[in-house]
Amino acid sequence: MQHEPGTTKFQIDLRRHLREQNICDNLVHLICEIAEAGKYVINAVRTGDLGVAGTSNLYGEEQLALDVLSDRIIRKRLIHSGVVCNVLSEEMDEVLQVKPEAAGLYSVAYDPLDGSSLVDVNLAVGTIVSIYSGCDLLQVGRKQVAALYILYGPRVSLVYSVGKGVHEFTMNHLMEYTLTRENITMQPAGNIYAPGGQRNKYCEGVERFVRYLEAKGAKLRYSGGFVPDINQVLLKGKGIFMYPALNGSPDGKLRLLFELNPMAYLVEQAGGAASNGRMPILDIRPEGYDQRVPIFIGCREDVEKALEFVNEA
Ligand code: AHG
Ligand code: MN
Ligand code: MN
Repeated sequence: MQHEPGTTKFQIDLRRHLREQNICDNLVHLICEIAEAGKYVINAVRTGDLGVAGTSNLYGEEQLALDVLSDRIIRKRLIHSGVVCNVLSEEMDEVLQVKPEAAGLYSVAYDPLDGSSLVDVNLAVGTIVSIYSGCDLLQVGRKQVAALYILYGPRVSLVYSVGKGVHEFTMNHLMEYTLTRENITMQPAGNIYAPGGQRNKYCEGVERFVRYLEAKGAKLRYSGGFVPDINQVLLKGKGIFMYPALNGSPDGKLRLLFELNPMAYLVEQAGGAASNGRMPILDIRPEGYDQRVPIFIGCREDVEKALEFVNEA
């Protein structure tokens, strides 16, 4: 996208950028509402009590776990957006039907606070969002019309795609999201690896792949937070994240609808790849809302290499 000379890219805010994508007004509105909700989530993360659900705070008031609180913040915003039919989050037991009709409306699957168990040790966490047109949330990820995450780290950033590239916005001192990187692209291969799960539970192929990475001098960069870990691989443009099948957990840990589809959409948009070891994440037909799937995601050649090792073994 061309911006008139004299306009530095830091002056472009999220709403303006979305409008320039030539997408439906309802989708612009929806993404802006989610971005607004993120401001309340970061406030809760920064200042909220670190208790668990059902316990009470200093004043004897009942307090909510941060993931439950984040879920309520985002859900409320979605319900009042007026442009949503179905909503489902990692914290909800069933799909919430906000409006019965599908025409011109969107359905949203989200992980309100991924990595919530890392807040007490002050590591970065995030919100992950997947958006479909119409009411069906059990579609292949390739049908997403938009995906985004908000990363609550030392800074707050928002990375989104509506199928026209991947773009990063950073929250400024006025809590506005301003464009910091446009059309993020990943290199074909990289030297960062972020391996989830316990290594002694890896299958032989994955163990051999890790040894290959170590031998070629790749750097281990794993925080245990899916959003910051993916953000690093995506924005540095190099490397691979994996959360493979583990001995005893053949589907890995991460969830297809709330975590993997949106990240796979963003990484593919940036020229990378995401696979469960056999097929692209975005082509998996979900069998249930809480389906877990192993994942290898990142630079195209790194993912291909992982698949070679996995399928050879
Ligand atoms: P959540 O906090 O939404 O339950 O998910 C946390 C995820 C993700 O952030 C990370 O990649 C993974 O769990 C790490 O899990 P383990 O530390 O259990 O391997
Ligand atoms: Mn999660
Ligand atoms: Mn979560």
